[in-house]
Amino acid sequence: MPRDWFAGSVADRYDEHTAALPVEPVVDVLAELAGDGSVLEFGVGTGRIAMPLAARGVPVHGIDLSPDMVAQLRAKPGGEEIPVAIGDFSTTTVDGTFSLVYLVRNTIMNVTAQEGQVACFENAAAHLEPGGCFLIEVVVPADRPLSVFDLSDTHVGVDEYEAATQALVSHHFTLVEGRWERLSPPFRAVSPAELDLMARIAGLRLRERWSGWGREPFTSGSTSHVSVWERP
Ligand SMILES: C[S@@+](CC[C@H](N)C(=O)[O-])C[C@H]1O[C@@H](n2cnc3c(N)ncnc32)[C@H](O)[C@@H]1O
Repeated sequence: MPRDWFAGSVADRYDEHTAALPVEPVVDVLAELAGDGSVLEFGVGTGRIAMPLAARGVPVHGIDLSPDMVAQLRAKPGGEEIPVAIGDFSTTTVDGTFSLVYLVRNTIMNVTAQEGQVACFENAAAHLEPGGCFLIEVVVPADRPLSVFDLSDTHVGVDEYEAATQALVSHHFTLVEGRWERLSPPFRAVSPAELDLMARIAGLRLRERWSGWGREPFTSGSTSHVSVWERP
């Protein structure tokens, strides 16, 4: 099993730190793609997206390797009702097939080897019914070796990127009870074109690519994308 970077205080603070992120536009797109089917979230975490999607009447299942993140989900009203398998979403299987498997908030990049990312696509495809979709939200790889992505009184975030290997380290410096704590999880950046090849290896084909949840066009200037591949 890969290392759990979301254990302990990261899980405790996750919802607070992500409170400003949009949820409704995400759930709108996911609910439409789900149609009348059930969905599976890879990296379901605290249920930030799974819970409001389930509240729309969509049956949601999840896979996550972090017991502490899933404990946060379980502590929410109705959180016990979402079936979650603890495991690596590149290899863990659950019963049933789904109209939609989705992986948001750059979580494909938590898989730090190309082989594992391909396995993730293959595992998603194996859980899809014919006509079902796999959706990923992820940033495009950086165009510079160092970038500051957050700078506040209590948190400084610096990305360190090596284009030659696609290795990215996100350094988080967080002020906790008067002391600066550092956490530097590793990621693997991946381009839209490489993701399309992974999809093809898994027997999926690209259906849509937007630059955001409002279905804005994806262009050369886009810094992130929402991509949808379909199982024929
Ligand atoms: C950035 S959080 C996103 C959580 C949730 N999807 C959201 O949008 O708030 C990433 C989640 O993916 C989980 N995760 C990362 N790599 C994983 C893997 N290989 N298998 C299963 N879960 C993984 C982490 O434990 C964490 O809960």
